[in-house]
Amino acid sequence: MKTQAIKKPAHTFTVRPNLPNYEAARARFSWADVYKDLDGLPGGVGLNIAHEAVDRHADGPLRDCVAIRWLSPDDTVREFTYAHLKRLTNRFANLLKTLDIQRGDRICTLCDRIPDLYIAALGTFKYGGVFCPLFSAFGPEPVFQRLSRSRAAVLITTERLFALKVAGFRHRLPHLKYVLLTDADRHVGPDTLSLPRLFDGASDRFSIPPTDPNDMAILHFTSGTTGFPKGAVHVHDAVRVHYITGKYVLDLRPGDIFWCTADPGWVTGTAYGIIAPLVCGVTSIVDGGDFDAGRWFRILESQKVTVWYTAPTAIRRLMRTASEALRQHDLSRLRHICSVGEPLAADAVRWGSDVLGHPIHDTWWQTENGGIMIANYPSAEIRPGSMGLPLPGIEAAIVRKPDGKTAEVVTEPDVTGHLALRSGWPSMFRGYLGENEKYAKSFSGDWYLSGDLARRDADGYFWFVGRGDDIIKTSGHMVGPFEVESVLTEHPAVAEAGVIGLPDPMLGERVAAFVSLRPGMTPDAALHRDILGFARKRLGPAVAPREIVFQEILPKNRAGKVMRRLLKARRLGLPQGDTSTPE
Ligand code: WT7
Repeated sequence: MKTQAIKKPAHTFTVRPNLPNYEAARARFSWADVYKDLDGLPGGVGLNIAHEAVDRHADGPLRDCVAIRWLSPDDTVREFTYAHLKRLTNRFANLLKTLDIQRGDRICTLCDRIPDLYIAALGTFKYGGVFCPLFSAFGPEPVFQRLSRSRAAVLITTERLFALKVAGFRHRLPHLKYVLLTDADRHVGPDTLSLPRLFDGASDRFSIPPTDPNDMAILHFTSGTTGFPKGAVHVHDAVRVHYITGKYVLDLRPGDIFWCTADPGWVTGTAYGIIAPLVCGVTSIVDGGDFDAGRWFRILESQKVTVWYTAPTAIRRLMRTASEALRQHDLSRLRHICSVGEPLAADAVRWGSDVLGHPIHDTWWQTENGGIMIANYPSAEIRPGSMGLPLPGIEAAIVRKPDGKTAEVVTEPDVTGHLALRSGWPSMFRGYLGENEKYAKSFSGDWYLSGDLARRDADGYFWFVGRGDDIIKTSGHMVGPFEVESVLTEHPAVAEAGVIGLPDPMLGERVAAFVSLRPGMTPDAALHRDILGFARKRLGPAVAPREIVFQEILPKNRAGKVMRRLLKARRLGLPQGDTSTPE
């Protein structure tokens, strides 16, 4: 494929002037050195994400700098300085203590992007708890699966979301000690408490207990193809990657106004919507509202955003809706734009350049990686359409994966293979909670296998080719087909289901379900509507299929598993590959 490079003048990182560009940063990089830029090790608190993100700034020159500027959906603004955030997160840590929550216990959140979510995350890190955010657009079924699998001890949510998505199965969560309601004025029952009340009663002084870099800090669920969602375990040491990527990839510098548009229900919203900007000591914009092209342009302008991290699905919508009027916004403060989550087309990179004043820098990583692994750097040439170069300190490769043998690295350029990362970076996931076998299966020798297919060009840039499995990416969100199929087959009319992603110009992929019916059922419009509604109610709009196709017999392999690949190939009129096994 021919690529056209957008040349940008290489600039130096003001934070570390001894690292002039990508090549030099890579050549001199050592993970051990990163500790020197952070605080805490070896004595004192150890390495605690909240100490690095909040307390060390609150006790230093940045104390009165705005850490988080929160915009409500109706455009009221609340600002939290580093000093203020320190006191609030101390209160949260203290209230966990009052509730007799143990270190290592899981603290789940199910709410929109409200300040309490951010305070709970950072307060949980301080206390030594494990923060586990759930996406508020999940329906009751995905919420139940994740609360149950994480063995959550505490759930933080709102009255409405609790009633809608949790109350019905509260009795099936024996580990859940407390539900803390962010919007209840008074305690509702012995284990359903008012968060504001608890805040009022908690001291704002707290000293972070010694934290080992390998203490568990974050649990993020990610979808599999063959089973229910898996909880990827991350530790406090991940903060080294948050810091380094904040610096080299996002180019965060003191004085920056940074806006990450992701929701903490997904890993980007935690790593870059909470942790990285604070660790780098900048002001982080949190928008509590939903996507709206006009609103987003207004935020970029009025908040004087300097660095922006967003996603291809949003960029596509902006490209489609950005009218001349929107283009009149003054975006002169914007200096750097990055994207993540799904392929960023070369024309989107150039659209950034034309309309926003800067080309968009694609970045690649996964829930399991904990932080950006491959990127187009501000200090290196952009290759539009490519994911970029590996982070300093990260070894990425294309490997061949012969069955049962150790992966072998492909050295020639432009060969499609499995994208793999050499194990051992600080933000690498340390397990899938309670699923050692699945964890072990993610590796081949030293190599972590991403599940993505990619190729590397002669200059070391990586190009995304596709997923190597059946995972669906819709609006940048991962959907596991199994989770959807298992809800569909609970509908009384459905015998079997196969769920795939179909190409969609806006969503990237849209979730589509192929369904065979139980004997005697008529595949009519009413049943179609009923199944769609059923799935939407149980799964929520972020996960539910958009489309259902009735099919008398679904193709299956000898083991009786529905062959999703074949469904997809047939539907898209693609070559069907080896079809010798379906019955
Ligand atoms: C999968 C991981 C971690 C950020 C959010 C996603 C796809 C991610 C890119 C990109 C093409 C991408 C991959 C990857 N993906 N970034 N720049 N170009 N595809 O985290 O939900 O764990 O998804 O997202 O398929 O494996 P995630």
